[in-house]
Amino acid sequence: PAVALWGGRFAGGPSPELVALSRSTHFDWRLAPYDIRGSQAHAKVLHRAGLLSDAELDAMSAALDQLAADVAAGAFGPAPDDEDVHTALERGLIERAGAELGGKLRAGRSRNDQIATLVRLYLREQARTIAGQALTVVDELIAQAQAAGDAVMPGRTHLQHAQPVLLAHHLLAHAWPLLRDVDRLIDWDVRAARSPYGSGALAGSSLGLDPAAVAADLGFDGPVENSIDGTAARDVVAEFAFVAAMLGVDLSRFAEEVILWNTKEFGFVRLDDSYSTGSSIMPQKKNPDIAELARGKAGRVIGDLTGLLATLKGLPLAYNRDLQEDKEPVFDQVDTLTVLLPAFAGMVRTLSFDTARMAELAPQGFSLATDIAEWLVREGVPFRVAHEVAGACVKACEERGVELWDLSDADLAAISEHLTPQVRAVLSVAGSVASRDAVGGTAPARVAEQLESAKERATEY
Ligand code: ARG
Repeated sequence: PAVALWGGRFAGGPSPELVALSRSTHFDWRLAPYDIRGSQAHAKVLHRAGLLSDAELDAMSAALDQLAADVAAGAFGPAPDDEDVHTALERGLIERAGAELGGKLRAGRSRNDQIATLVRLYLREQARTIAGQALTVVDELIAQAQAAGDAVMPGRTHLQHAQPVLLAHHLLAHAWPLLRDVDRLIDWDVRAARSPYGSGALAGSSLGLDPAAVAADLGFDGPVENSIDGTAARDVVAEFAFVAAMLGVDLSRFAEEVILWNTKEFGFVRLDDSYSTGSSIMPQKKNPDIAELARGKAGRVIGDLTGLLATLKGLPLAYNRDLQEDKEPVFDQVDTLTVLLPAFAGMVRTLSFDTARMAELAPQGFSLATDIAEWLVREGVPFRVAHEVAGACVKACEERGVELWDLSDADLAAISEHLTPQVRAVLSVAGSVASRDAVGGTAPARVAEQLESAKERATEY
């Protein structure tokens, strides 16, 4: 028969259908070690409040240690009738400490404050792992940027050739969002570092237990300020879910470029054999599956966030059983990202760029037209006129099927009296990138500085 934590006022046990619906051990069992840590801390405040004797505390502690060891070894696990991780662990404790002592631990706490605390404990730990893995991707991007030196590529807007940029500049443009995601995880931790333990079901405890002591014991900065908030709020979980989704999206944006760059048409990058896959029918194929899985899994982690937000919307205070649905989305995000990030880092580490091809394409598509316009501005021509003149050059080239640098001095003069032969100085990719030399620009000297500051940021953590 099902052994629930709440049998007293019920005439019979729950129906099998309810048991099947209610059960959460298939996903919340991963919280078992955290629940036992919480129980150890709780036992100490019960002792301090005079509700456990010295001997009882020792016996309780030993039983919990034994339970933790058995859980870790796989010797103890949830039974089909255990409603949730808390139910299973109380059974395990009673098996080890006896019903009399084991039955004392639950005083002054509720599964509502327990679960809210455990989720935070778990996510705080996972956030550290994920931040570390994201920093590895950043390190690989930095290493690639360093290796790229002054190599150039076509910079794009609207996926069209826009202006030449350094490959290193572009790669670092993917590193900065990831660094901000790491910042977000660190900043999130400030809010996650409050312990709901002691909130009880919603109103707090009457047993003289000290929430601050439990909080300190579990590595939190302190207890929550409001027991209703402590048991009902899930914004901390949702914020984690947002950062995880954002990280997924940031990886996905780079993944999309890797997929494009790896096509025959682009031909910018080659994937290492060990980080690509083949086709079961087409012998020639070498596919960018890591990038595609990154792009696909971004959809999944976004779904986790939106599902969680939908669950929270409209929930009255305080605890509602709906809140049990907060866990699978973030567990899925954790599982997804912790598998994805190492593979992604390896893919980035082993990318090899065809810098000759990128350099050849960099000035094509009239990507130096802005350089003509800005050269004219430096010559004193108003930008509105300069923009027109440069546009006329593009038009002339398009009509003849040539590039900007193919225009003769006479062609240039015919377009505008301002277009003296000196304009040729900016009609090269090297000249173009070198001229964009303000902070944050793509000039080699600025990108070298940027690389140093990215390195510094990545090692600060
Ligand atoms: N398993 C629940 C959860 O994950 C915690 C139990 C609270 N249950 C309850 N009936 N108050 O949220």
